[in-house]
Amino acid sequence: MGGSGRWWAVMSSDPRPFHGAVWLGVVGLLLSPVVAFAALVAGFTVASGGEQMLVPALLAIALVALLAGVPAIVSAVRTSSAADPDDEAPRGLGTALALGGAASVVSLALAAGGALWAVAMIGGGTRGRPLRSDGVARFAGAAARTDWADPAVAPARDAADWVAAGLAEHASIASFARLALELLALGAPPELVERAHLAAIDEIRHARLSFGAAGGGVGPGPLPAALQLAPLPGDRRSALAAVARASAVDGWFNEGREAGRARRAAATAETPELAAIYAAIADDEARHAALGRDVAAWCAAELLATAARGADAG
Ligand SMILES: [Fe+2]
Ligand SMILES: [Fe+2]
Repeated sequence: MGGSGRWWAVMSSDPRPFHGAVWLGVVGLLLSPVVAFAALVAGFTVASGGEQMLVPALLAIALVALLAGVPAIVSAVRTSSAADPDDEAPRGLGTALALGGAASVVSLALAAGGALWAVAMIGGGTRGRPLRSDGVARFAGAAARTDWADPAVAPARDAADWVAAGLAEHASIASFARLALELLALGAPPELVERAHLAAIDEIRHARLSFGAAGGGVGPGPLPAALQLAPLPGDRRSALAAVARASAVDGWFNEGREAGRARRAAATAETPELAAIYAAIADDEARHAALGRDVAAWCAAELLATAARGADAG
């Protein structure tokens, strides 16, 4: 028992370990909602299938951590009130420390893992705004053709990377075309509809630059997913929420990250010409990220206005 008092004294100026148990319990309780939030973010962004099982699993473990935090604090408080002040390791303290510590460690590990996993899923190996069908990013296959390559661009070293980038940019054209139609369906202002169309044209340019850098002999094949997309939900609130979510995650976050990647690539590009291409793409992607943010904000404002109208009518 004296041993536990000594190790605790290293961590705290207070020789009584009671505070340690309480703090561990509190940390466990505070971290549990973080885990739950990470699981929910992941749930919004993960595609489909078995991966979705991780979301309820994370939520369940967060709940267990939450339940462990409460008895840790109760046990510590009870121990403290019943303890002999001269006894540096009162009875029951080991249980409180174990429960509180377990709750904290489990919550922390899951919060970190859940957040990393969610970020990995948000990226999903795509560059820029992906074209999602059933939550999965869809691309055309590569085809032997020359008409998509910008002839002014000299072939770069990593042809395979540029083909992958070109296919991702090509899919983004369809993603912005879809956004423009969704905005029209929701009654969005003309400024947002125009920006969605302009972004699609930017992506045509990015695709052509990328296929040019890939060597000029490869382009995109058919993209049947462009016309095989699930329609927006029938009720307005769900439709606004769906467009807000996609614009925040795939637009604001993903295109913002793409802008950062292009900016870093510009700094280390193999030729000045490629550096200029990366820099131009970075500016465009930053504008697309701002569009994602503004569309999400407009959808959120519409949702609030819809809710307010519902409250007035009630
Ligand atoms: Fe792009
Ligand atoms: Fe983009």
